[in-house]
Amino acid sequence: MPKFHSDIGLIGLAVMGQNLALNIADHGFQVSVYNRTTEKTAKFLAGNPATPGGLVGATTLQEFVRSLTRPRRIILLVQAGGPTDAVIDGLIPLLEQGDIIIDGGNAKWTDTIRREKALREKGLRFIGSGVSGGETGARFGPALMPGGDPAAYKELEPIWNAIAAKVDAKTGRPIPGAAPGIPVSGGVPCATYIGPDGAGHYVKMIHNGIEYGDMQMICEAYYLIRSLLGLKAEEIGAVFAEWNKGVLDSYLIEITADILQQKDPVTKSKALVDVILDTAGQKGTGKWTSVNALDMGVPAPTVAEAVFARCLSALKEERVAAAKILKGPAKKKYRGARTALIQAIHDALYCSKICSYAQGFQLMREAQKEYNWTLNFGAIAQIWRGGCIIRAGFLQKITEAYGRNPRLANLLLDPYFNKTVKGAQENWRKVVALAAQHGVAAPTFGSALAYYDGYRTARLPANLLQAQRDYFGAHTYERVDQPRGKFFHLDWPEPARPQIQA
Ligand code: 6PG
Repeated sequence: MPKFHSDIGLIGLAVMGQNLALNIADHGFQVSVYNRTTEKTAKFLAGNPATPGGLVGATTLQEFVRSLTRPRRIILLVQAGGPTDAVIDGLIPLLEQGDIIIDGGNAKWTDTIRREKALREKGLRFIGSGVSGGETGARFGPALMPGGDPAAYKELEPIWNAIAAKVDAKTGRPIPGAAPGIPVSGGVPCATYIGPDGAGHYVKMIHNGIEYGDMQMICEAYYLIRSLLGLKAEEIGAVFAEWNKGVLDSYLIEITADILQQKDPVTKSKALVDVILDTAGQKGTGKWTSVNALDMGVPAPTVAEAVFARCLSALKEERVAAAKILKGPAKKKYRGARTALIQAIHDALYCSKICSYAQGFQLMREAQKEYNWTLNFGAIAQIWRGGCIIRAGFLQKITEAYGRNPRLANLLLDPYFNKTVKGAQENWRKVVALAAQHGVAAPTFGSALAYYDGYRTARLPANLLQAQRDYFGAHTYERVDQPRGKFFHLDWPEPARPQIQA
Protein backbone atom coordinates (compact mmCIF):
# COMPACT_ATOMS: atom_id res chain seq x y z
CA MET A 1 0.00 0.00 0.00
CA PRO A 2 1.55 3.35 -1.00
CA LYS A 3 2.38 6.03 1.54
CA PHE A 4 -0.15 8.83 1.16
CA HIS A 5 2.24 11.67 0.65
CA SER A 6 3.79 11.63 -2.80
CA ASP A 7 4.81 15.08 -3.97
CA ILE A 8 3.67 14.46 -7.52
CA GLY A 9 2.09 11.76 -9.67
CA LEU A 10 2.88 10.65 -13.19
CA ILE A 11 0.65 8.70 -15.55
CA GLY A 12 2.13 6.94 -18.58
CA LEU A 13 5.27 4.87 -18.23
CA ALA A 14 6.48 4.83 -21.83
CA VAL A 15 10.08 5.99 -22.39
CA MET A 16 9.46 9.71 -21.67
CA GLY A 17 7.33 8.97 -18.60
CA GLN A 18 9.84 6.59 -17.04
CA ASN A 19 12.74 8.98 -17.56
CA LEU A 20 10.88 12.02 -16.28
CA ALA A 21 9.74 10.10 -13.17
CA LEU A 22 13.35 9.09 -12.45
CA ASN A 23 14.57 12.65 -12.99
CA ILE A 24 11.98 13.98 -10.51
CA ALA A 25 12.81 11.28 -7.97
CA ASP A 26 16.54 12.06 -8.38
CA HIS A 27 15.77 15.53 -7.09
CA GLY A 28 14.29 14.22 -3.87
CA PHE A 29 10.59 14.31 -4.73
CA GLN A 30 8.47 11.24 -4.08
CA VAL A 31 6.67 10.27 -7.28
CA SER A 32 3.59 8.08 -7.58
CA VAL A 33 3.37 6.34 -10.92
CA TYR A 34 0.49 4.75 -12.76
CA ASN A 35 0.29 2.94 -16.06
CA ARG A 36 -2.69 1.31 -17.78
CA THR A 37 -0.86 -2.02 -17.86
CA THR A 38 0.17 -2.79 -14.28
CA GLU A 39 3.03 -5.13 -15.36
CA LYS A 40 4.82 -2.09 -16.76
CA THR A 41 4.53 -0.31 -13.41
CA ALA A 42 5.79 -3.35 -11.53
CA LYS A 43 8.75 -3.78 -13.90
CA PHE A 44 9.64 -0.09 -13.65
CA LEU A 45 9.56 -0.15 -9.83
CA ALA A 46 11.56 -3.37 -9.68
CA GLY A 47 14.21 -1.87 -11.97
CA ASN A 48 14.53 1.29 -9.86
CA PRO A 49 14.30 0.23 -6.22
CA ALA A 50 16.29 3.07 -4.66
CA THR A 51 15.89 6.66 -5.82
CA PRO A 52 16.52 9.69 -3.60
CA GLY A 53 12.84 10.74 -3.58
CA GLY A 54 11.27 7.33 -3.95
CA LEU A 55 8.83 5.86 -6.46
CA VAL A 56 5.43 4.61 -5.44
CA GLY A 57 3.42 2.37 -7.74
CA ALA A 58 -0.37 2.37 -7.95
CA THR A 59 -2.48 -0.28 -9.62
CA THR A 60 -5.68 1.74 -9.88
CA LEU A 61 -6.34 5.40 -10.63
CA GLN A 62 -8.17 5.71 -7.30
CA GLU A 63 -5.16 4.43 -5.39
CA PHE A 64 -2.89 6.67 -7.45
CA VAL A 65 -4.95 9.80 -6.72
CA ARG A 66 -5.21 8.95 -3.01
CA SER A 67 -1.42 8.67 -2.74
CA LEU A 68 -0.82 12.35 -3.62
CA THR A 69 -0.50 15.37 -1.32
CA ARG A 70 -2.90 18.22 -2.05
CA PRO A 71 -3.25 20.18 -4.22
CA ARG A 72 -2.53 17.10 -6.30
CA ARG A 73 -0.06 17.51 -9.13
CA ILE A 74 -0.48 14.90 -11.84
CA ILE A 75 1.72 14.73 -14.92
CA LEU A 76 0.33 13.02 -18.01
CA LEU A 77 2.78 11.53 -20.46
CA VAL A 78 0.37 9.67 -22.65
CA GLN A 79 -0.34 9.77 -26.38
CA ALA A 80 -1.59 13.17 -27.59
CA GLY A 81 -5.19 13.52 -28.74
CA GLY A 82 -7.91 11.02 -27.75
CA PRO A 83 -5.83 9.03 -25.21
CA THR A 84 -5.03 12.25 -23.28
CA ASP A 85 -8.73 13.17 -23.15
CA ALA A 86 -9.59 9.65 -21.99
CA VAL A 87 -7.13 9.82 -19.07
CA ILE A 88 -8.37 13.30 -18.09
CA ASP A 89 -11.98 12.06 -18.16
CA GLY A 90 -10.99 9.18 -15.90
CA LEU A 91 -9.29 11.52 -13.44
CA ILE A 92 -11.96 14.24 -13.18
CA PRO A 93 -14.35 12.38 -10.83
CA LEU A 94 -11.46 11.48 -8.53
CA LEU A 95 -10.00 14.97 -8.16
CA GLU A 96 -10.85 17.85 -5.84
CA GLN A 97 -10.99 21.63 -6.31
CA GLY A 98 -7.61 23.15 -7.08
CA ASP A 99 -5.88 19.92 -8.12
CA ILE A 100 -3.56 20.30 -11.09
CA ILE A 101 -3.18 18.17 -14.21
CA ILE A 102 0.00 18.74 -16.21
CA ASP A 103 0.11 17.51 -19.79
CA GLY A 104 3.77 16.94 -20.72
CA GLY A 105 3.08 15.42 -24.14
CA ASN A 106 3.31 17.03 -27.56
CA ALA A 107 -0.29 18.19 -27.43
CA LYS A 108 -1.77 20.54 -30.00
CA TRP A 109 -2.08 23.95 -28.37
CA THR A 110 -5.74 24.28 -29.35
CA ASP A 111 -6.49 21.05 -27.45
CA THR A 112 -4.67 22.51 -24.46
CA ILE A 113 -6.77 25.70 -24.65
CA ARG A 114 -9.92 23.57 -24.76
CA ARG A 115 -8.85 21.31 -21.88
CA GLU A 116 -7.71 24.19 -19.68
CA LYS A 117 -11.08 25.90 -20.10
CA ALA A 118 -13.10 22.73 -19.50
CA LEU A 119 -11.16 21.87 -16.34
CA ARG A 120 -11.23 25.45 -15.06
CA GLU A 121 -15.04 25.34 -15.28
CA LYS A 122 -14.89 22.29 -13.01
CA GLY A 123 -12.59 24.00 -10.49
CA LEU A 124 -9.54 22.03 -11.64
CA ARG A 125 -6.31 23.49 -12.97
CA PHE A 126 -4.46 22.50 -16.13
CA ILE A 127 -0.90 23.12 -17.24
CA GLY A 128 0.18 22.27 -20.80
CA SER A 129 3.93 21.96 -20.69
CA GLY A 130 6.28 21.40 -23.59
CA VAL A 131 8.99 18.92 -22.62
CA SER A 132 11.90 18.75 -25.01
CA GLY A 133 15.10 16.75 -25.13
CA GLY A 134 13.96 13.22 -25.90
CA GLU A 135 14.79 10.35 -23.61
CA THR A 136 18.10 11.73 -22.28
CA GLY A 137 16.64 15.18 -21.76
CA ALA A 138 13.71 13.79 -19.76
CA ARG A 139 16.13 11.78 -17.62
CA PHE A 140 18.88 14.33 -16.98
CA GLY A 141 17.44 17.76 -17.76
CA PRO A 142 14.88 18.75 -20.40
CA ALA A 143 13.85 22.21 -21.55
CA LEU A 144 10.39 22.86 -20.13
CA MET A 145 7.77 25.19 -21.62
CA PRO A 146 4.81 25.38 -19.21
CA GLY A 147 1.61 27.28 -19.98
CA GLY A 148 -1.66 27.64 -18.10
CA ASP A 149 -2.90 29.20 -14.89
CA PRO A 150 0.08 31.12 -13.40
CA ALA A 151 -0.97 30.29 -9.83
CA ALA A 152 -1.07 26.62 -10.71
CA TYR A 153 2.40 26.89 -12.22
CA LYS A 154 3.66 28.32 -8.92
CA GLU A 155 2.76 24.95 -7.37
CA LEU A 156 4.74 23.10 -10.02
CA GLU A 157 7.64 25.52 -10.41
CA PRO A 158 9.97 24.10 -7.72
CA ILE A 159 9.83 20.66 -9.34
CA TRP A 160 10.07 21.98 -12.91
CA ASN A 161 13.04 24.19 -11.98
CA ALA A 162 14.76 21.32 -10.20
CA ILE A 163 14.52 18.82 -13.07
CA ALA A 164 15.16 21.18 -16.00
CA ALA A 165 18.52 21.50 -17.75
CA LYS A 166 20.59 24.42 -16.44
CA VAL A 167 22.50 27.13 -18.25
CA ASP A 168 25.00 29.72 -17.08
CA ALA A 169 23.18 32.95 -16.18
CA LYS A 170 25.63 35.18 -18.06
CA THR A 171 26.83 33.19 -21.06
CA GLY A 172 23.77 30.96 -21.51
CA ARG A 173 26.12 27.98 -21.85
CA PRO A 174 24.61 24.66 -20.72
CA ILE A 175 26.01 23.46 -17.40
CA PRO A 176 26.84 19.77 -17.61
CA GLY A 177 26.05 17.47 -14.68
CA ALA A 178 28.93 16.21 -12.55
CA ALA A 179 28.00 12.74 -13.82
CA PRO A 180 24.94 11.33 -15.52
CA GLY A 181 22.14 11.38 -12.99
CA ILE A 182 23.90 13.69 -10.55
CA PRO A 183 21.77 16.83 -10.32
CA VAL A 184 23.40 20.00 -11.60
CA SER A 185 23.99 22.66 -8.99
CA GLY A 186 23.70 26.36 -9.83
CA GLY A 187 22.72 27.93 -13.13
CA VAL A 188 19.44 29.11 -14.54
CA PRO A 189 16.83 26.41 -15.19
CA CYS A 190 15.67 25.90 -18.76
CA ALA A 191 12.09 26.30 -17.63
CA THR A 192 10.01 29.44 -17.57
CA TYR A 193 6.33 30.22 -17.39
CA ILE A 194 5.34 30.88 -21.00
CA GLY A 195 1.79 32.20 -20.72
CA PRO A 196 -1.86 31.25 -20.20
CA ASP A 197 -3.76 28.20 -21.52
CA GLY A 198 -2.07 26.78 -24.65
CA ALA A 199 0.96 29.11 -24.75
CA GLY A 200 3.43 26.47 -23.52
CA HIS A 201 2.35 23.87 -26.03
CA TYR A 202 2.29 26.48 -28.79
CA VAL A 203 5.90 27.42 -28.08
CA LYS A 204 6.85 23.73 -27.97
CA MET A 205 5.22 23.30 -31.39
CA ILE A 206 7.28 26.19 -32.75
CA HIS A 207 10.36 24.55 -31.23
CA ASN A 208 9.50 21.44 -33.20
CA GLY A 209 8.87 23.37 -36.42
CA ILE A 210 12.29 24.95 -36.01
CA GLU A 211 13.69 21.48 -35.25
CA TYR A 212 12.30 20.25 -38.60
CA GLY A 213 13.98 23.19 -40.36
CA ASP A 214 17.34 22.67 -38.63
CA MET A 215 17.36 18.96 -39.42
CA GLN A 216 16.49 19.44 -43.09
CA MET A 217 19.13 22.18 -43.50
CA ILE A 218 21.79 19.92 -42.03
CA CYS A 219 20.70 17.19 -44.44
CA GLU A 220 20.99 19.60 -47.36
CA ALA A 221 24.50 20.64 -46.28
CA TYR A 222 25.51 16.97 -45.99
CA TYR A 223 23.98 16.17 -49.37
CA LEU A 224 25.63 19.11 -51.15
CA ILE A 225 29.06 18.20 -49.78
CA ARG A 226 28.51 14.61 -50.82
CA SER A 227 27.12 15.41 -54.28
CA LEU A 228 29.47 18.23 -55.29
CA LEU A 229 32.67 17.08 -53.61
CA GLY A 230 32.15 13.33 -53.40
CA LEU A 231 33.21 13.15 -49.75
CA LYS A 232 32.50 9.98 -47.78
CA ALA A 233 30.18 9.97 -44.74
CA GLU A 234 33.00 9.94 -42.20
CA GLU A 235 34.77 12.81 -43.98
CA ILE A 236 31.56 14.84 -43.89
CA GLY A 237 31.25 13.89 -40.22
CA ALA A 238 34.65 15.50 -39.64
CA VAL A 239 33.41 18.68 -41.35
CA PHE A 240 30.40 18.79 -39.01
CA ALA A 241 32.62 18.17 -35.98
CA GLU A 242 34.65 21.20 -37.06
CA TRP A 243 31.52 23.31 -37.62
CA ASN A 244 30.40 22.41 -34.12
CA LYS A 245 33.28 24.47 -32.75
CA GLY A 246 32.01 27.69 -34.35
CA VAL A 247 28.77 29.64 -34.76
CA LEU A 248 26.88 26.47 -35.71
CA ASP A 249 27.68 24.87 -32.34
CA SER A 250 24.54 22.89 -31.48
CA TYR A 251 23.21 19.54 -30.38
CA LEU A 252 21.93 18.67 -33.87
CA ILE A 253 25.30 19.43 -35.53
CA GLU A 254 27.06 17.45 -32.79
CA ILE A 255 24.89 14.35 -33.24
CA THR A 256 25.18 14.64 -37.02
CA ALA A 257 28.99 14.49 -36.74
CA ASP A 258 28.62 11.40 -34.58
CA ILE A 259 26.02 9.74 -36.84
CA LEU A 260 28.20 10.22 -39.93
CA GLN A 261 31.12 8.46 -38.21
CA GLN A 262 28.97 5.46 -37.31
CA LYS A 263 29.80 2.14 -38.96
CA ASP A 264 26.94 -0.17 -39.97
CA PRO A 265 26.86 -3.01 -37.44
CA VAL A 266 25.48 -5.41 -40.08
CA THR A 267 27.85 -5.04 -43.06
CA LYS A 268 30.63 -3.87 -40.75
CA SER A 269 32.23 -2.07 -43.71
CA LYS A 270 29.74 0.62 -44.75
CA ALA A 271 28.75 3.81 -42.99
CA LEU A 272 25.44 3.29 -41.19
CA VAL A 273 23.95 6.40 -42.82
CA ASP A 274 24.57 4.83 -46.26
CA VAL A 275 22.39 1.83 -45.49
CA ILE A 276 19.48 3.73 -43.92
CA LEU A 277 16.49 4.05 -46.24
CA ASP A 278 15.91 7.64 -47.38
CA THR A 279 12.27 8.03 -46.34
CA ALA A 280 11.57 10.36 -43.44
CA GLY A 281 8.85 9.86 -40.84
CA GLN A 282 7.02 12.55 -38.89
CA LYS A 283 4.56 12.74 -36.07
CA GLY A 284 2.92 16.00 -37.10
CA THR A 285 4.23 18.93 -35.08
CA GLY A 286 6.06 20.41 -38.10
CA LYS A 287 2.84 20.11 -40.09
CA TRP A 288 0.89 21.86 -37.31
CA THR A 289 3.41 24.71 -37.38
CA SER A 290 3.07 25.09 -41.14
CA VAL A 291 -0.73 24.85 -41.15
CA ASN A 292 -0.82 27.44 -38.37
CA ALA A 293 1.46 29.72 -40.41
CA LEU A 294 -0.97 29.43 -43.35
CA ASP A 295 -3.96 30.00 -41.08
CA MET A 296 -2.47 33.17 -39.60
CA GLY A 297 -1.01 34.36 -42.93
CA VAL A 298 2.52 34.47 -41.52
CA PRO A 299 5.26 33.62 -44.02
CA ALA A 300 7.12 30.59 -42.64
CA PRO A 301 8.14 28.93 -45.91
CA THR A 302 11.35 27.36 -44.62
CA VAL A 303 9.64 25.29 -41.93
CA ALA A 304 6.97 24.29 -44.46
CA GLU A 305 9.67 23.28 -46.98
CA ALA A 306 11.23 21.08 -44.32
CA VAL A 307 7.90 19.31 -43.86
CA PHE A 308 7.39 18.95 -47.61
CA ALA A 309 10.95 17.62 -47.96
CA ARG A 310 9.96 14.81 -45.58
CA CYS A 311 6.78 14.19 -47.62
CA LEU A 312 8.77 14.07 -50.88
CA SER A 313 11.29 11.68 -49.35
CA ALA A 314 8.44 9.37 -48.39
CA LEU A 315 7.52 8.91 -52.09
CA LYS A 316 10.39 6.47 -52.41
CA GLU A 317 8.95 4.18 -55.11
CA GLU A 318 7.73 7.11 -57.20
CA ARG A 319 11.13 8.79 -56.96
CA VAL A 320 12.96 5.63 -57.96
CA ALA A 321 10.72 5.33 -61.04
CA ALA A 322 10.98 9.06 -61.86
CA ALA A 323 14.78 8.95 -61.57
CA LYS A 324 14.81 6.78 -64.71
CA ILE A 325 12.65 9.18 -66.70
CA LEU A 326 13.30 12.76 -65.59
CA LYS A 327 16.65 14.19 -66.57
CA GLY A 328 18.62 16.89 -64.79
CA PRO A 329 21.95 18.48 -65.69
CA ALA A 330 24.74 16.10 -66.72
CA LYS A 331 26.67 14.95 -63.63
CA LYS A 332 29.90 16.87 -63.31
CA LYS A 333 32.31 17.26 -60.45
CA TYR A 334 32.66 20.62 -58.81
CA ARG A 335 35.87 22.18 -60.07
CA GLY A 336 36.47 24.89 -57.50
CA ALA A 337 38.40 24.71 -54.24
CA ARG A 338 37.06 22.23 -51.70
CA THR A 339 37.71 24.36 -48.60
CA ALA A 340 36.02 27.40 -50.10
CA LEU A 341 32.95 25.37 -51.05
CA ILE A 342 32.70 23.83 -47.59
CA GLN A 343 32.88 27.32 -46.08
CA ALA A 344 30.19 28.50 -48.51
CA ILE A 345 27.90 25.61 -47.50
CA HIS A 346 28.56 26.45 -43.85
CA ASP A 347 27.51 30.05 -44.51
CA ALA A 348 24.43 28.95 -46.46
CA LEU A 349 23.43 26.77 -43.53
CA TYR A 350 23.91 29.56 -41.00
CA CYS A 351 22.00 32.17 -43.04
CA SER A 352 19.16 29.72 -43.74
CA LYS A 353 19.00 28.87 -40.05
CA ILE A 354 18.72 32.55 -39.14
CA CYS A 355 15.79 32.92 -41.56
CA SER A 356 14.08 29.82 -40.22
CA TYR A 357 14.31 31.07 -36.63
CA ALA A 358 13.15 34.51 -37.78
CA GLN A 359 10.05 32.80 -39.19
CA GLY A 360 9.45 30.82 -35.98
CA PHE A 361 9.63 33.99 -33.88
CA GLN A 362 7.32 35.80 -36.34
CA LEU A 363 4.80 33.03 -35.80
CA MET A 364 4.99 33.43 -32.02
CA ARG A 365 4.62 37.20 -32.39
CA GLU A 366 1.43 36.78 -34.39
CA ALA A 367 0.05 34.00 -32.17
CA GLN A 368 0.41 36.14 -29.06
CA LYS A 369 -1.88 38.72 -30.68
CA GLU A 370 -4.32 36.04 -31.77
CA TYR A 371 -4.51 34.37 -28.34
CA ASN A 372 -3.88 37.39 -26.12
CA TRP A 373 -0.59 36.13 -24.69
CA THR A 374 2.46 38.19 -23.80
CA LEU A 375 5.44 36.08 -24.79
CA ASN A 376 8.97 36.87 -23.69
CA PHE A 377 11.01 35.97 -26.77
CA GLY A 378 14.39 36.50 -25.12
CA ALA A 379 13.41 34.12 -22.29
CA ILE A 380 12.11 31.54 -24.77
CA ALA A 381 15.43 31.57 -26.65
CA GLN A 382 17.19 31.30 -23.28
CA ILE A 383 15.34 28.17 -22.14
CA TRP A 384 16.08 26.57 -25.53
CA ARG A 385 19.80 26.93 -24.80
CA GLY A 386 19.90 23.75 -22.76
CA GLY A 387 18.18 20.39 -22.70
CA CYS A 388 16.11 20.64 -25.87
CA ILE A 389 16.74 19.27 -29.35
CA ILE A 390 17.44 22.68 -30.93
CA ARG A 391 19.85 23.76 -28.18
CA ALA A 392 22.58 25.86 -29.73
CA GLY A 393 25.07 28.59 -28.92
CA PHE A 394 23.36 30.71 -31.55
CA LEU A 395 20.24 31.06 -29.36
CA GLN A 396 22.22 33.38 -27.08
CA LYS A 397 22.35 35.82 -30.00
CA ILE A 398 18.55 35.71 -30.16
CA THR A 399 18.25 36.39 -26.41
CA GLU A 400 20.67 39.30 -26.85
CA ALA A 401 18.72 40.61 -29.85
CA TYR A 402 15.45 40.70 -27.89
CA GLY A 403 17.35 42.19 -24.93
CA ARG A 404 18.38 45.06 -27.22
CA ASN A 405 14.88 45.45 -28.59
CA PRO A 406 11.97 43.45 -27.11
CA ARG A 407 9.71 44.75 -29.90
CA LEU A 408 12.01 43.63 -32.71
CA ALA A 409 9.85 43.21 -35.83
CA ASN A 410 12.03 40.48 -37.34
CA LEU A 411 15.26 38.84 -36.14
CA LEU A 412 16.87 39.72 -39.48
CA LEU A 413 16.64 43.40 -38.51
CA ASP A 414 18.77 42.97 -35.39
CA PRO A 415 22.26 44.44 -35.97
CA TYR A 416 24.05 41.12 -35.27
CA PHE A 417 21.90 39.07 -37.65
CA ASN A 418 21.81 41.81 -40.26
CA LYS A 419 25.61 42.01 -40.25
CA THR A 420 26.03 38.23 -40.26
CA VAL A 421 23.76 37.69 -43.25
CA LYS A 422 25.32 40.65 -45.05
CA GLY A 423 28.77 39.12 -44.65
CA ALA A 424 27.76 35.58 -45.59
CA GLN A 425 25.14 36.08 -48.29
CA GLU A 426 27.51 35.89 -51.24
CA ASN A 427 28.40 32.34 -50.21
CA TRP A 428 24.74 31.55 -49.53
CA ARG A 429 23.73 32.71 -53.03
CA LYS A 430 26.62 30.77 -54.56
CA VAL A 431 25.48 27.56 -52.85
CA VAL A 432 21.83 27.94 -53.88
CA ALA A 433 22.94 28.64 -57.47
CA LEU A 434 25.33 25.67 -57.45
CA ALA A 435 22.60 23.40 -56.11
CA ALA A 436 20.33 24.46 -59.00
CA GLN A 437 23.11 24.09 -61.59
CA HIS A 438 24.02 20.62 -60.37
CA GLY A 439 20.43 19.46 -59.96
CA VAL A 440 20.73 18.90 -56.21
CA ALA A 441 17.50 19.58 -54.30
CA ALA A 442 18.14 22.06 -51.47
CA PRO A 443 14.62 23.29 -50.70
CA THR A 444 15.21 24.96 -47.32
CA PHE A 445 18.38 26.77 -48.43
CA GLY A 446 16.55 28.09 -51.49
CA SER A 447 13.36 28.93 -49.66
CA ALA A 448 15.20 30.76 -46.87
CA LEU A 449 17.06 32.84 -49.46
CA ALA A 450 13.81 33.69 -51.25
CA TYR A 451 12.35 34.67 -47.85
CA TYR A 452 15.32 36.93 -47.17
CA ASP A 453 15.13 38.53 -50.61
CA GLY A 454 11.36 38.91 -50.40
CA TYR A 455 11.47 40.44 -46.94
CA ARG A 456 14.10 43.01 -47.90
CA THR A 457 12.27 44.05 -51.10
CA ALA A 458 10.32 47.29 -50.87
CA ARG A 459 8.34 46.66 -54.05
CA LEU A 460 7.36 43.09 -54.92
CA PRO A 461 5.48 41.92 -58.04
CA ALA A 462 2.23 41.71 -56.07
CA ASN A 463 1.16 44.82 -58.02
CA LEU A 464 0.73 42.60 -61.07
CA LEU A 465 -0.98 39.95 -58.98
CA GLN A 466 -3.53 42.47 -57.74
CA ALA A 467 -4.19 43.53 -61.33
CA GLN A 468 -4.78 39.88 -62.28
CA ARG A 469 -7.22 39.46 -59.37
CA ASP A 470 -9.03 42.60 -60.40
CA TYR A 471 -9.09 41.47 -64.07
CA PHE A 472 -10.84 38.16 -63.55
CA GLY A 473 -12.66 38.68 -60.27
CA ALA A 474 -13.10 42.44 -59.75
CA HIS A 475 -11.20 42.01 -56.47
CA THR A 476 -9.96 45.63 -56.59
CA TYR A 477 -6.51 47.08 -55.90
CA GLU A 478 -4.91 49.89 -53.94
CA ARG A 479 -2.78 52.56 -55.67
CA VAL A 480 0.73 53.75 -54.86
CA ASP A 481 -0.43 57.37 -55.15
CA GLN A 482 -3.49 57.05 -52.88
CA PRO A 483 -3.89 56.40 -49.12
CA ARG A 484 -3.94 52.77 -47.93
CA GLY A 485 -7.40 51.28 -47.60
CA LYS A 486 -8.82 53.05 -50.65
CA PHE A 487 -9.74 50.48 -53.30
CA PHE A 488 -10.01 50.83 -57.08
CA HIS A 489 -11.38 48.74 -59.88
CA LEU A 490 -10.85 48.95 -63.62
CA ASP A 491 -13.61 47.98 -66.00
CA TRP A 492 -11.46 45.40 -67.81
CA PRO A 493 -14.09 44.19 -70.31
CA GLU A 494 -14.61 47.80 -71.48
CA PRO A 495 -13.27 47.87 -75.08
CA ALA A 496 -12.40 51.55 -74.85
CA ARG A 497 -10.20 51.25 -71.71
CA PRO A 498 -6.90 53.09 -72.21
CA GLN A 499 -4.01 50.93 -73.44
CA ILE A 500 -0.30 51.66 -73.45
CA GLN A 501 0.83 51.59 -77.05
CA ALA A 502 4.03 49.56 -77.52
C1 6PG B 1 11.77 17.09 -28.55
C2 6PG B 1 11.30 16.56 -29.90
C3 6PG B 1 10.23 15.55 -29.76
C4 6PG B 1 9.65 15.09 -31.10
C5 6PG B 1 10.48 14.08 -31.77
C6 6PG B 1 9.85 13.42 -32.99
O1 6PG B 1 11.70 18.29 -28.41
O2 6PG B 1 12.19 16.31 -27.70
O3 6PG B 1 10.82 17.61 -30.66
O4 6PG B 1 9.21 16.14 -29.00
O5 6PG B 1 8.43 14.55 -30.89
O6 6PG B 1 11.70 14.62 -32.09
O7 6PG B 1 9.31 14.30 -33.89
P1 6PG B 1 8.97 13.82 -35.38
O8 6PG B 1 8.62 12.35 -35.32
O9 6PG B 1 7.81 14.61 -35.83
O10 6PG B 1 10.20 14.02 -36.17
